[in-house]
Amino acid sequence: MQDYSHLTVDHFFNPSSKEFVENPDNTLARLMEYPIGRYEAWASWVITGHELITQCLLDRRFSTDFNLWEYAPPKKAEEDMNAFEKLMNNNLFFLNRSDHLRLRKLALPAFSPRIMNQMKERFAVLVKERFNEIGNPKSFNFAKEVAEVIPVQAIASLVGIPRDKFPIFDSLAYGIVRGINPMLSLEEREDAIKGIPEGIDLLNSLINEKRNNLSDDFLSTLIAAEEDGKKLSNWEMCALIGSVLGAGSDTAVDLHTYLIKALLNHPEQFEKLKNNPELTQNAISETLRCESSGKTGLARYASEDIQLRDVMIKKGQMIQLITSTAGKDPHIYKDPEKFDIERDQDKSISFGQGPHYCIGVTLVRSQTEVMLKELLERFPNLTLGDKLAYDYSHHNARRITELEINTGF
Ligand code: HEM
Repeated sequence: MQDYSHLTVDHFFNPSSKEFVENPDNTLARLMEYPIGRYEAWASWVITGHELITQCLLDRRFSTDFNLWEYAPPKKAEEDMNAFEKLMNNNLFFLNRSDHLRLRKLALPAFSPRIMNQMKERFAVLVKERFNEIGNPKSFNFAKEVAEVIPVQAIASLVGIPRDKFPIFDSLAYGIVRGINPMLSLEEREDAIKGIPEGIDLLNSLINEKRNNLSDDFLSTLIAAEEDGKKLSNWEMCALIGSVLGAGSDTAVDLHTYLIKALLNHPEQFEKLKNNPELTQNAISETLRCESSGKTGLARYASEDIQLRDVMIKKGQMIQLITSTAGKDPHIYKDPEKFDIERDQDKSISFGQGPHYCIGVTLVRSQTEVMLKELLERFPNLTLGDKLAYDYSHHNARRITELEINTGF
């Protein structure tokens, strides 16, 4: 057996540490000295650098199917699963290759440019309402008042959840996002996921209503989608909406917060953006490159023995692609530590690459743009306040819980 102890990164890599959460750059630079490192804490390989991560994302032998993992618990029969386990079992991320292909093909029309355009108008209404509620205080916590609220509301609005049912949808989102945390005790997980059955009932009744009243919106498009005479079942649609919540709420929360933090920390870039609003999408890409909030990266499982450079990844082993290192890779980005909203973003892999490429990219880009436009219209003189706090115990994000901004009033 080969000895890989010289590749171990455990002595300096601790993504839950205060240091990593607040400023991961030094650790990421050190990690990049190990393109393929061994992280015993996760019983996993960690893969770093733009080239190698892209190669792994495109290599179908590295699967997202969790059941291939050497330590995966025995798979339960569907009838023995609770609602949360069933959602996860049918989650777009974790499906086997053929099921993933089929489901993704059926889901894609619901994310078409036409529907995304409809959404932009709805986001504008949501965002206006939120800022009306905030009013004109001297300062407020942007993380809590805006970033934590808008992304789940945006998905609720995409799905067509009526306003008065948002709290039920919120509990569903909470259960999916928190339930994934592997560090929870049994009781904590049960508590986190308790809102899921009611959320699924809500989705089912909405889907059933829609079946009799199809229009040109997201849910109608999902219902009408058909491949080889087969349509999506109610349950597949619920699982798809679950995947969207799992993938699109927390990630968007962090994008909102880190975008505002980065802009306010770089007043010259902020001024440039105010004078050139057409740079907004580039500023979003630059934030994701510089401030990728993920702690853990993207997981893949080897479906066979795979030779990766000079390391043999054995069948069943897990690799973690530390995508935040891709954005800081000096082979791709000149002065990678510099926040520059005019930087060329052609090589960005912040939304993934290959078969699992983010399905919600247009949605999140548009909701963030709408939010930023409204924020700047309301508070053109906004500056960074003193209060900044993190949730160090968040299982997979460098989550900011408090970002005080001064409104200039
Ligand atoms: C800043 C926000 C976001 C970022 C950085 C992001 C990033 C990503 C990345 C890197 C992947 C690929 C994962 C992998 O290969 O394992 C992915 C997949 C996915 N994303 Fe996003 N995402 C964001 C927002 C959203 C939103 C708003 C939605 C939905 C409305 C969404 C839905 C999805 C789904 C369903 C997948 C799985 C696709 C598949 O497996 O085929 N994401 N996202």
